[in-house]
Amino acid sequence: METPPVLSGRELQAAEQIFGTRLGLAERYVGHLATSGIERGLLGPREVPRLWSRHVLNCAVIESCIPQAATVADVGSGAGLPGLCLAIARPDLSLTLIEPLERRCIWLQEVVDDLGLDNVTVWRGRAEAAVGLTDFSVVTARAVSALDKLARLTLPLLQGNGELVAIKGRSAQDEIENAQKVLKKLRAVETEILSCGDELLEEPTTVVRVTVRR
Ligand SMILES: C[S@@+](CC[C@H](N)C(=O)[O-])C[C@H]1O[C@@H](n2cnc3c(N)ncnc32)[C@H](O)[C@@H]1O
Repeated sequence: METPPVLSGRELQAAEQIFGTRLGLAERYVGHLATSGIERGLLGPREVPRLWSRHVLNCAVIESCIPQAATVADVGSGAGLPGLCLAIARPDLSLTLIEPLERRCIWLQEVVDDLGLDNVTVWRGRAEAAVGLTDFSVVTARAVSALDKLARLTLPLLQGNGELVAIKGRSAQDEIENAQKVLKKLRAVETEILSCGDELLEEPTTVVRVTVRR
């Protein structure tokens, strides 16, 4: 069984700042990722040493892009990235984790129950089938698909005004260019590249934020 990586130095400072009094919950979540998460194939074993840096902190810093008390759909949540990081960091948010694979949903629900998170719903199914489920004001996603396809999957979940907050890498600008047509069709009024966690992380997180007005 893998031992969860211990926080120290700059990562510890970042985690304390992001999670505050809920840091214990984040540590417990990382414990689940490092053990049952790996055993049940939600992440590869090579990820264990970088669970904090590359996964949990990298995802959690996007909380700075999300308005107070938002109703958030995390599409393709997988092991809860970024959805569970946000639910731990921001108890004011209401999160729905949308994930089609049953074994991933079972694991997510076990973690939610163990952590006692009362602001999370695990919903099994594809994003296309979740339209109208709730009046989401924000959709998040990491590593689900390129922006053109991701916009088609996620923007219909925003019934009124809202935003897609997608974690992206160096391809962000190219993806925006390739998605211009579909973004326009889906009533995107603004598409920006933001850098989150500049002052907290060695490698800040790149986010594409798409704002829609309906
Ligand atoms: C590469 S994983 C990324 C998981 C997680 N977001 C992360 O960053 O580690 C992609 C996830 O998207 C889910 N997925 C694929 N197509 C989907 C769809 N149409 N609606 C919702 N989730 C989908 C998959 O089941 C998978 O869990």
